[in-house]
Amino acid sequence: MASQPSTRSSSSSASTASTATSTATQYLVHFVHRHLDFRKCDFDSSLIAQNLSPSSIYAASNFDMLRPFLICTFPDDETATKVAKSTVLIKHIYKVNSVGETTEDCVAKSKPFTSSPTESWKIVFDTFASKFTKSEQSKIMHQFIDLHKPSGPVKMKDPTTTMSIIHEYPVKISGAPMYPRFDHSGSPIPSNVDRPPLSVYFCSNFAAGGRDLVEKYTLKKRTYLGPTSMDNELSLIMCNAALTRPQSYVLDPFVGTGSILFSASVLGGICVGTDIDTRVLKGKGEGGVMRNFLDCNLPLPEIIRGDNSLHSRLFRSREVYDSIITDPPYGIRAGARKSGTTEDRRKPIPDEHRHDHIPQTQVYPVGDVMADLLTVAARGLKVGGRLVYLIPSLKDFEEGDLPTHECLELEWVCYQPLGLLLGRRMVVMKKVKGWVEEKEEEWKEKCWPNGKESADKVEKLREQMAEAAKKERAEGEKQGWGGKLHKTKKQRKKEMRNEVELKKFTD
Ligand SMILES: C[S@@+](CC[C@H](N)C(=O)[O-])C[C@H]1O[C@@H](n2cnc3c(N)ncnc32)[C@H](O)[C@@H]1O
Repeated sequence: MASQPSTRSSSSSASTASTATSTATQYLVHFVHRHLDFRKCDFDSSLIAQNLSPSSIYAASNFDMLRPFLICTFPDDETATKVAKSTVLIKHIYKVNSVGETTEDCVAKSKPFTSSPTESWKIVFDTFASKFTKSEQSKIMHQFIDLHKPSGPVKMKDPTTTMSIIHEYPVKISGAPMYPRFDHSGSPIPSNVDRPPLSVYFCSNFAAGGRDLVEKYTLKKRTYLGPTSMDNELSLIMCNAALTRPQSYVLDPFVGTGSILFSASVLGGICVGTDIDTRVLKGKGEGGVMRNFLDCNLPLPEIIRGDNSLHSRLFRSREVYDSIITDPPYGIRAGARKSGTTEDRRKPIPDEHRHDHIPQTQVYPVGDVMADLLTVAARGLKVGGRLVYLIPSLKDFEEGDLPTHECLELEWVCYQPLGLLLGRRMVVMKKVKGWVEEKEEEWKEKCWPNGKESADKVEKLREQMAEAAKKERAEGEKQGWGGKLHKTKKQRKKEMRNEVELKKFTD
């Protein structure tokens, strides 16, 4: 299997620390604690876009999906800065001064962090999955200051050197802290040996990630939105996974309100979009798909009212796109329709409407939507180009259920949970083989290796979700908590409070 699921094994702090002791400059990558299963794909895609092989930058065994810190080596500062800027899920890249398993270890290994009496400096304190009181922070900071006695002035605003002390604590598989640091009343639980950090880092602030784009182009600031508009962070992640860069040709065959092409355009892509529904393309007086591009002075995409099942009739061009990035219609938020009618008698088109006639549409089964999408990708992408799409799924959906095409190789499958049972996957495929027109039907027939059953899992998602909720309620009633989700959450909170109380008692 070519997909690269994120490593879930816990790489020990020792292995991370040992990487930091080699002589090359070490950088510490700090990911945001979101979209955990997408972080590796996002980082690796940025590395590949800079012509770097991920294995030359970090040891895959050191990557842990549950840890937001990763020690890397970049060829130089400029490359590290460029990579940081082009990612979506990196907050910051630091230059490592020392890494330890405890504060004392980190202090002992640290080196002087200023080099002249004129160099201004400050130290900031950061923690992951824990909190430190002001006095605890100050004590730790002074251990570094007392050891190195920097002679330059302290400057809180724009100092020459900003150092960060970061304490990283483990989290549970849910992403919640393993050891709550404060009880429900907000009082700190005294530290004890049962709460060891995973790593303590002492590093200088170096390069910011590309998070500014997430905030700058948030959906909240857009004039034209619809129920299908995709959040800006995820569409930027998709565009990065598709290796979108300035002058890339990007197609979204299910463009809707244009949110994916908007992000592609922000990254410099030249965009083309099609959608079967003129109402969503034109909007209701807000200016339609083009509005947000105009508002933000972005190059306007080519938008065509078109049916994806007839893509080859709409476009003669072959192997022209660098990427196809899309959120296909699965009938959950937006129904899939295709041209044609199931009625026996077609209505004649009056002459006066020939110029603006829109053909009748009929239901477009999910199995066909996906088979057509992969065909469009195999035909439209350049060899080496990428198809990135989202597919909603319940827990029983497996990677073997994904549609396949002989010209496309699976690169990544990243899972985003959207509840206890429902989630969606971002699938990245790379075109590895040239398009052969005569093979279209033969390839299409092999689209679902597990048969129609896999397509049904997506097609019947709505019914399955209702079924799953019913089952959950019944199970809950059996166990006596009423089966409602908010009750289980309440229960969990109560359990957590008890856990904290128990810890207080045992400390
Ligand atoms: C999930 S939405 C895409 C949302 C889009 N990413 C956005 O930002 O709004 C799917 C879109 O596919 C369109 N669609 C449905 N059937 C289609 C077809 N046969 N060809 C092209 N577009 C189709 C729908 O009109 C809808 O706008």
